[in-house]
Amino acid sequence: MKDLKKILVTGGAGFIGVNLIKLILRDYPDYHVINFDALTYAGNLVSLADVENNPRYTFIKGDVANREAVNNAIEGCWGVLHLAAESHVDRSILDAAPFLNTNVIGTMTILDAMRKHNLKRYVQVSTDEVYGALKPDDPEFSETNRLLPNSPYSASKAGADLLVRSYFKTYDLPVIITRCSNNYGPYQFPEKLIPLLISNALQDKPIPVYGDGCQIRDWLYVEDHCRALMTVFEKGMPGEIYNIGGNNEIMNLDLVKTLLRQIGKPESLIESVKDRPGHDRRYAINSSRIKNELGWEPQYKLEDAMQKTVAWYLENDDWIDSVISGDYMEYYNKQYGE
Ligand code: NAD
Ligand code: DAU
Repeated sequence: MKDLKKILVTGGAGFIGVNLIKLILRDYPDYHVINFDALTYAGNLVSLADVENNPRYTFIKGDVANREAVNNAIEGCWGVLHLAAESHVDRSILDAAPFLNTNVIGTMTILDAMRKHNLKRYVQVSTDEVYGALKPDDPEFSETNRLLPNSPYSASKAGADLLVRSYFKTYDLPVIITRCSNNYGPYQFPEKLIPLLISNALQDKPIPVYGDGCQIRDWLYVEDHCRALMTVFEKGMPGEIYNIGGNNEIMNLDLVKTLLRQIGKPESLIESVKDRPGHDRRYAINSSRIKNELGWEPQYKLEDAMQKTVAWYLENDDWIDSVISGDYMEYYNKQYGE
């Protein structure tokens, strides 16, 4: 058997991490994936049950802010895809502390370990939210936009990005930053708009729409994002930033109505609620750099991939049930016997 390159995927039990690990195991045979995840409320190993016995996959429970645990996990790895984060804006408004600890201190800890163990590649999975908000006629975010984060979440991600940049300049570490728009697809925790909507609609519960519902997001199917991450991991230029977007700007209210139609539920479920403080009005991403320099573009159209997503949640109601009941949190103890 040929030598496999070991890569550390942090946050691999979260929404994007799960989709990324499945993609790597399916389409990238040269890698052994080490999934390093603290299993917070957002980490769900049930989502990875189908690959847990794959010989190219290893799970390690650990906190990215724990130096010893990170050093042990990273030893012998070739590269890192760093996804672990506190990722929900509303939670960051209630309490910024875990965001600073995981997103900033955790990133520093991974970078230090990478330096110590002389790893060859690092991708910082960041977000378009670091650029702040756009007005209706503003051009899309490009990689040279100023960082103007508006929530504790996006401020912590911006802080991490700046730290990554500094490790490139100071230590010449081979690090790359990606900044992506809103993802959707299977295995997303139902606190984010789309899975929350589907889960509530299936139970005929109200769908909370913040403020006037006229905020705009640029939606990207998660598999397209994961392919972009692997493209950057394999072909990206150290020290660079790559924006990743879906070219799918849509107003929240329009998105909600479209999804309700697809699920076959009435618009009367929509409930207008108090707006999110500091709510960013519009995000839109210019992805021309990754397209022109690395040859990546999204493969999925919004309409088709939304239908695929709705179908997945309808077919996998047991997955949603285990999340809502909290049963998914027992899975690690059952399988790994802690
Ligand atoms: P998620 O919240 O679904 O998953 C985060 C994962 O990180 C979970 O498995 C959790 O257990 C793990 N984690 C949290 N704190 C940890 C810690 N201290 N140590 C180790 N593991 C820890 O997030 P996601 O939506 O999959 O996002 C993944 C990354 O992509 C994040 O960095 C996020 O900022 C970024 N991102 C997300 C989106 C999106 O739309 N979801 C868009 C752009 C960028
Ligand atoms: O842009 C990338 C970002 O996308 C990622 O960095 C974040 O990790 C990810 O959570 C996401 O952030 P958003 O705040 O855009 O996603 P969320 O699903 O929370 O909300 C999407 C939009 O829907 C936003 O305008 C707020 C609104 N919303 C959200 C929820 C949960 C509602 O109107 N009602 C809701 O109940």
